[in-house]
Formats: sequence, C-alpha cells, structure tokens
Amino acid sequence: MRIHDLLQCKLAGKPITMVTCYDAWSAKLLGDQDVDCILVGDSLAMVMHGFESTLAATPAMMAMHTEAVARGLSGAKNMPLLIADMPFMSYRQGLVPAVKAATKLMRAGAHAIKLEGAKGNEDLIRHLVDSGIPVMGHLGLTPQSVHQLGGHCLQAKDDVAAQRLLQEARDLQKAGCFALVLECVPETLARNVSQDLQIPVIGIGAGRYVDGQVLVLHDLLGFSKDFKPRFLAQFAQGEDFFQQGIADYCQAVRSKVFPSREHSYRPVADDNVDTDEVDDVAAEEAAG
Ligand code: KIV
Repeated sequence: MRIHDLLQCKLAGKPITMVTCYDAWSAKLLGDQDVDCILVGDSLAMVMHGFESTLAATPAMMAMHTEAVARGLSGAKNMPLLIADMPFMSYRQGLVPAVKAATKLMRAGAHAIKLEGAKGNEDLIRHLVDSGIPVMGHLGLTPQSVHQLGGHCLQAKDDVAAQRLLQEARDLQKAGCFALVLECVPETLARNVSQDLQIPVIGIGAGRYVDGQVLVLHDLLGFSKDFKPRFLAQFAQGEDFFQQGIADYCQAVRSKVFPSREHSYRPVADDNVDTDEVDDVAAEEAAG
C-alpha cells in the first residue's frame, strides 16, 4: 500500500482500514491480514507503557516501537503503509528538531509520519513533503492537547468550531498532507470534511461518512474491556481469551498436568526408558 493507493481507495469509494500497532509480534499477525495502514501511534505511551496520556511519548520511544513494527512486517504477505506519530512537542520547537525527529522515525522504518493540529504546522509540513516525507494530518480530538481540550471528549460541536476545523483541514491539504485523521467529531461535520477534501479522511469516532476508519488494535480486539466509548466496537473478546489462557496454564502447572511426557526432553540413551510410571504418578496426583 502506498500513499497514492489511498487516494485511489477514496476515488473508488473503498473504505480504508487502519489500526495501531506497537510491536513486532502483532505486526507479524497484521502482516498476514489485509490491513491498508498501520499506525505506530503515540497512544503506545498509554497502552504499552501505562502512562496517563500520550504526552509521555518521546522520539526515541516512537523510533524503538517503529523499528520493532517494521521488523515484524518484513516479509508480510500484504505490506501496509507504515505511519509513525510525531510525539508531543517534537515538532513545536523549530524546524531543525522537528526534521530530526521525523528523520529518526523514517530511518526506523516508517513510510510516513503523522502530526496533530494545523495552526503553526503548515511550514513544517511543506518542508517535510518537499523533502520526500509523506505527512498525515490529525484534527478534532488531538490527544496531545488533552489538557487544553479539557479531556478526551467530542470536538467541534458548534458551527463556529466546525467551520474552524473545516478550514484547518483545507490548510493541511494545501500544505501537502496526503491524508487526514479526524477524531471524535460529529458525523455530519466529518462527512462535510470528507466531501470537501480530495485527500482521504480516516475517522475514529467520526461516524460513517468518511473514507476509512482507524482504531487502536487493543481496543478493537477487546483487550481493554472496560474502555467502551460510543465509537468503539470490540471485534473479539481478547481480554477474556487472554485471562482464560493464563488461568488454564497456572492450573495445569499447579496440578502437574503440565509439562507432560510429550513436553519433556529425554537423553537419547534414555529414549527407550519407559517413563509411563512417572507419568502415572503425576496423573494420579493431579486427580487428587
Ligand atoms: O496514537 C494513536 O493511536 C492515534 C489514533 C487514535 C488515531 O493517533
């Protein structure tokens, strides 16, 4: 998947799929599926590192996870577009540090970078795009501004804010963004933005009438069972599945059912030694 293919998806009315991914193991699984885009989101600060917000993500952290995801994707059946988030403040301290942070992510294996907000970012976006780095925009609920926004809540609820967001979306397109993530805004506004822009609009909590959807992998797989915002659908019961597997393992070890003979090594010389007797004792003990 390349950035040009995303535009073709929009033109053909084919919804774009995007999910977050932070490690090689899940990247390998995603590489076997037909996912269009993978986002190494700065949400990893919360999901993987247990921080309260995405503010804790740093360029070094983002690069390390991007490298892991890129390794996991190598040899993937379907190579998705790999996008990495520019973390908090890494692009607000001047052009040089921002370019350095973007370079770090691209060298880590990203195909493109994503950054939040429009105001004050246009020159940087133009510079990155002119330098060959594709940039994805992100408007609406921009979690790096959580304290300014007063929480993770619906954005652009009134007409003035909606008009402002539409203008910012146009500005990002003009600056050269190849796509835009729109987070937690009313569906009607998201539809207007998607219809107004030529670039694809990928929604999260932005309703039905956008060009694609993005979700956090752990949320869509049901690994955060208690996190149930209106916009989220859980497509698997990951948490139950995981907990059951761990409980079964502990039970098997404590009852001496695991490891059994088939899980145990024997020296070659002892291969013919009948260990059934040992197994019988274990089974008897397990049965109580
Ligand atoms: O960091 C992230 O996971 C994101 C998505 C929610 C779009 O930015």
